[in-house]
Amino acid sequence: MTSSPRLHSQNWNAAGYATNAHFVPALGQPVLDLLEPQAGERILDLGCGDGVLTEKLIALGAEVVAIDNSSDMIAAARRRGLDASIMDARALTFESEFDAVFSNAVLHWIKNDPDAPVTGAFRALRTGGRFVGEMGGHACVGAITVALVATLERRGIRDAASWIPWYFPTVDDYEIRLRRAGFVPHSVQLIPRPTPLPTGMRGWLETFANPFCAALPQSERSGFLDEVTAILKPVLCDAEGRWTADYTRLRALRPSKPDFLRFVSRGELYPTRRDHHHITRGWFKLR
Ligand code: BEZ
Repeated sequence: MTSSPRLHSQNWNAAGYATNAHFVPALGQPVLDLLEPQAGERILDLGCGDGVLTEKLIALGAEVVAIDNSSDMIAAARRRGLDASIMDARALTFESEFDAVFSNAVLHWIKNDPDAPVTGAFRALRTGGRFVGEMGGHACVGAITVALVATLERRGIRDAASWIPWYFPTVDDYEIRLRRAGFVPHSVQLIPRPTPLPTGMRGWLETFANPFCAALPQSERSGFLDEVTAILKPVLCDAEGRWTADYTRLRALRPSKPDFLRFVSRGELYPTRRDHHHITRGWFKLR
């Protein structure tokens, strides 16, 4: 039985995503509204997917640089005529050049080193620039995750929880990460968002649960997804056969890159180009 390595690698398929998960960018509209993009602003779309929201930012007059780590998604974004590039969110290469960084439904996939995209976003912003992001929050798809893990265990996979590919932080956890990167936090919220699934649980699992399927031989995967669907039916499917997933969202609104204040959270001083000071804790005024 396949049991390692646990790469948490999600195989993105743009066509499957458009069929089973078109609600993801559609439900990202409120985050885009909160970004309040202004004509002429330079914005980084961190994890653009197939570019549905990138197009909207451009339509509002922003100059957008779009990146994603999936070649299939980037190909789909380019088919829309977008200037989109493959880049790992953990290794952003931008430096003080954006008015805003925008991210929808991406950062929960970065379980391995969730600080890296926050630090990269901070570095990418000009002084005073803002970050507006939404991702799955604490306990997001909790019932679905329990069903996936328990069903893997039933099929003989030891330490099945280690196949969970998602990082769903609490408000406290994410505020600490934002501060540690240098942001002045404005608001971080956890919002329950029950989410209707247009192609039911089976469609959702086919699009999002392939990191769990990787624990099993190919021949078992379809039966595994059927079993998970059957377990979830009494909880997430109504009498009319409509499925609703137990999503929560974590929204980080407008934490901004300060020009002279840094929050030092761990008795360490995180270096910027302008500071070079002794170790302290709390709010710290730079020269
Ligand atoms: C999302 O795209 O928002 C998502 C994907 C997988 C699990 C939970 C949320």
